[in-house]
Amino acid sequence: MSISKSILVNMTGNLHFKVRVIAVLLISAMAGCGFISCSKEEQKPDFTPGGRFESSMLHQYFTPLPHYDTSHWTPADRAKVIMGKDLFYDGRLSASKEISCATCHDIQHYGIDGLATSVGHKGLHGRRNAPSVLNAALQYGQFWDARVRTIEEQWTGPLMSEREMGTKDTTALLRFLQQDSVYGPFFRQYYGHKTLTLEDVGEVIGAFERILLTPSKWDTFLRGEAALSQEENRGLRLFIQWKCVRCHSGTLLGGDRASQFPGERPYWEYTHSDSYDAGRYLVTGNPADKLAFKVPSLRNVVETAPYFHDGSVPALDDAIDLMANASGYYPKKHQIKAMISFLKTLTGTLPSYKWMELDNRKDIMDATE
Ligand code: HEC
Ligand code: HEC
Repeated sequence: MSISKSILVNMTGNLHFKVRVIAVLLISAMAGCGFISCSKEEQKPDFTPGGRFESSMLHQYFTPLPHYDTSHWTPADRAKVIMGKDLFYDGRLSASKEISCATCHDIQHYGIDGLATSVGHKGLHGRRNAPSVLNAALQYGQFWDARVRTIEEQWTGPLMSEREMGTKDTTALLRFLQQDSVYGPFFRQYYGHKTLTLEDVGEVIGAFERILLTPSKWDTFLRGEAALSQEENRGLRLFIQWKCVRCHSGTLLGGDRASQFPGERPYWEYTHSDSYDAGRYLVTGNPADKLAFKVPSLRNVVETAPYFHDGSVPALDDAIDLMANASGYYPKKHQIKAMISFLKTLTGTLPSYKWMELDNRKDIMDATE
């Protein structure tokens, strides 16, 4: 069977479309909110008796993850995702031939490396904490400073960074990929006989990253198909009362905007960071963006310590405490416990390649015959 390119394009188009729809919904939900200050805080949470939430109130802040429908996938679609997965795990993309994307974004470890700052090429530490790749495709921008828009464009950053994969000669890398016995036939089928580009490879890695969604109890709750426990409910209530939703809302409870730390003081007064990072200012040069970072998604946050852009806070209770302090709240121990119970509902199911039959190598053969 030969690859039906239009279907593949369609498939990616479809995904982009879904993401666009979400983006539009998020943007309309954010309308009226300024950069940091947001009019939502004026709206009083509308609690109904028995600790249940009015669903209209919830849906004003949050939306569930989209369902990932693979039923229309052709063998060629699957082949593309499998190739993306192979590339993601392939150390041969790096200068040392040992560092793959998965070195720092271990999918089984919720898409992170668990270090404050990552160790890459020649054992060099980067300056920032590795964010998770799970659900990352749905963000408005990639990296802590959102300097890149899409997941497809993002991969050349780590590829060429001296502190990550250290690959300088990308022409040689592309030649290698085109000549490889597994990637070669796939790329030829998919892109024809033209010279492979970094954008082409990014599209394939991106197709894999786009399936890395982690639906959780939170999504079933938002869809009205499951109830939260009393403790989880208490945590959610605090999350809204303490106005965490000003910044952590939408589908990912983050990932849709950038912001400074709440409060008057700079982040290092709370985190005791010993590094200075100007954040989005480095990208835009706009003084208003000094010390602003992308608001991180809180999906799987219980599993993705250490916290903040420099990984300076190892424990989640401390991260919550200082975010609350910065917002003018001083939580008691039992309140932090409740908040963590709520945040645990955001811990999702890790992507299962079996479910998508991504281990079915026959698809590649079929698609590249
Ligand atoms: C040496 C460790 C390392 C390697 C290898 C690495 N990354 Fe990363 N990744 C990071 C760090 C650190 C950041 C954050 C950098 C920043 O914000 O400036 C990041 C950011 C990202 C993001 C943005 C996530 C977000 O929420 O903003 C994505 C997506 C990503 N990496 C995918 C990849 C892919 C794909 C590869 C392989 C081509 C890769 N990474 C290789 C450490 C690594
Ligand atoms: C004004 C916007 C804003 C508000 C309000 C806010 N946050 Fe944040 N939050 C951020 C930003 C920005 C970061 C990343 C800061 C950094 O890394 O320097 C962050 C990071 C976090 C992190 C660390 C996540 C990670 O993966 O590193 C947690 C946990 C968190 N916030 C929880 C909360 C809680 C709980 C509240 C309510 C008490 C709250 N936030 C209120 C903007 C906000």
